Amino acid sequence: MTPTEPWANLLGDITLEEFFRDYWQKKPLLIRGALPDVPVIDANELAGYALEKNVESRLIVEQPKADSLRSGWSLTHGPLTAKRFKSLPESHWTLLVQAVNQLHPDIHELLQRFRFIPNWRIDDVMVSYAVDKGGVGPHFDYYDVFLLQASGKRHWRIGQTCSSASPLRKDTDCKILQDFTTQEEWLVEPGDLLYIPPGVAHWGIAEGECMTYSVGFRAPSHGEILLDYSEEIASTLTEDRRFADPDRTPATQPGLISDADIQQVRALLQNLLLDEKNLTSWFGRFMTQPRREAPTFEAETPYPMLGPGVRAAYRPYAQGEATLYVEGGELRCSLSLAETLCAGQDPGKLELDAADIAVIDELTAQGFLV
Ligand code: SIN
Ligand code: CO
Repeated sequence: MTPTEPWANLLGDITLEEFFRDYWQKKPLLIRGALPDVPVIDANELAGYALEKNVESRLIVEQPKADSLRSGWSLTHGPLTAKRFKSLPESHWTLLVQAVNQLHPDIHELLQRFRFIPNWRIDDVMVSYAVDKGGVGPHFDYYDVFLLQASGKRHWRIGQTCSSASPLRKDTDCKILQDFTTQEEWLVEPGDLLYIPPGVAHWGIAEGECMTYSVGFRAPSHGEILLDYSEEIASTLTEDRRFADPDRTPATQPGLISDADIQQVRALLQNLLLDEKNLTSWFGRFMTQPRREAPTFEAETPYPMLGPGVRAAYRPYAQGEATLYVEGGELRCSLSLAETLCAGQDPGKLELDAADIAVIDELTAQGFLV
């Protein structure tokens, strides 16, 4: 790692190797002063995004009780109205807006600091604004999250490890845990960064007004992976491809499913599902699929680059060549063009051949290159 890389010093004294070995998907980590120059966005601007119909936003209001595990919680999905904002109490609420990296250049830029994790693994940056005592309550997420404190203070509690079997409150649409066992707690300040692995309960309460940025990851469930891939494979198969058993031997019992029968079906599934070419192509397109139709800010760049929030990844497939996956589609180009576009760098410095220029034209025509 060279000191010029955007993520240099983000993890303080911890090296990237140590982070992945000891913390990533394993245990929480707090880094004090990780980003002293954290950009702050205006709370009114954030509220403005929540009024827009194709921006995903939520308003969470707590009706506090002396025992905070018994508080009431109400959830309103955006778009919100100016009237709704005027009727809010002085404390105990928070506004959350998804994919602010597509809406605000500074938040888009912030993602450069997290490029030690592949682009396609990152989902979006959610921004939350909370008034005093506001928060989303005790909960867990199914994906990793980096919580960057942008302004004000927040008291975080880290709790138990949860799963889909952990009991949730039934009296609210907010996914609030019924129980919370505090293991660690911290008061975070602007620039502090908290990493939380999937399934670890956490509970953040604003101390005065505060703003938090959540860099969220994309982790499709095994069910989603199996369903999406098998649906794609199935759509290519004709009726002629069927269960077959040309090596059958006489049945010893009419009802018996033999080891050979199970082996037959296992081999059939393995052949269909593990074809390297199909798997690679599907995974690249699947992981770069856009999740939401969100508006994006107008990027002004000195050279053609992928637009804000455009999901892209690549995989080398031959000497110097790559398959480039962009927003769920795939194209063939030179490895250097794929690397350069995915890193948000200037492709003009490369020696581009006719095929690369065609890819640039195609991406421009699709509106992915600005
Ligand atoms: C927040 O910003 O209030 C909540 C983020 C999270 O817990 O994932
Ligand atoms: Co969370």
